[in-house]
Amino acid sequence: MDNIVLIGFMGVGKGTVAREIIKISDYMAIDTDDIIESAENKKIKKIFEENGEKYFRELEKKVALWLEKSVKNTVISTGGGFFMVDNLKKIGKIVLLDSGFEDILHRIKSHPNAKKKLKKRPLLKDLKKAKKLFEERRPAYLKVADIVIDVTNKEPKKIAKEILKKVNG
Ligand code: S3P
Repeated sequence: MDNIVLIGFMGVGKGTVAREIIKISDYMAIDTDDIIESAENKKIKKIFEENGEKYFRELEKKVALWLEKSVKNTVISTGGGFFMVDNLKKIGKIVLLDSGFEDILHRIKSHPNAKKKLKKRPLLKDLKKAKKLFEERRPAYLKVADIVIDVTNKEPKKIAKEILKKVNG
């Protein structure tokens, strides 16, 4: 089984979908932000504040090299900027969870933990800037993706099934 690498903008549901995939398959799930937080023993927000974004992006590159060499049979949810690592395509099948900016905001805001979800994401602090970032990134996401899944108004369970069907033919 090739790894499945879930990419897409902050708040699109990558972690949630990864957890649904492992319920109905033999894959295990890991998350690049979780790996970084555990390796640094620091929350992403703190890493951005204390070490800066550049340092965080270097950590993502290190994680990417490790994933390529050491991880198999796994669905990997990634931070929204992880797709920029050089070896992305060597890690597994790249699956984009695609959605409009307004839908993403709606999804985050309607979550029971909405406040926490917004607070832990430094790049969502300024919504105007976040929208600009979304518009810059979307074409880049589409360019690297092997599979594009429109997640608008879809339950995570349904998205998980759709991904498995597309990945395994
Ligand atoms: C980022 C997305 C975040 C996290 C960091 C930077 C980005 O992950 O990696 O705050 O550059 O889009 P999520 O996509 O899980 O929010």
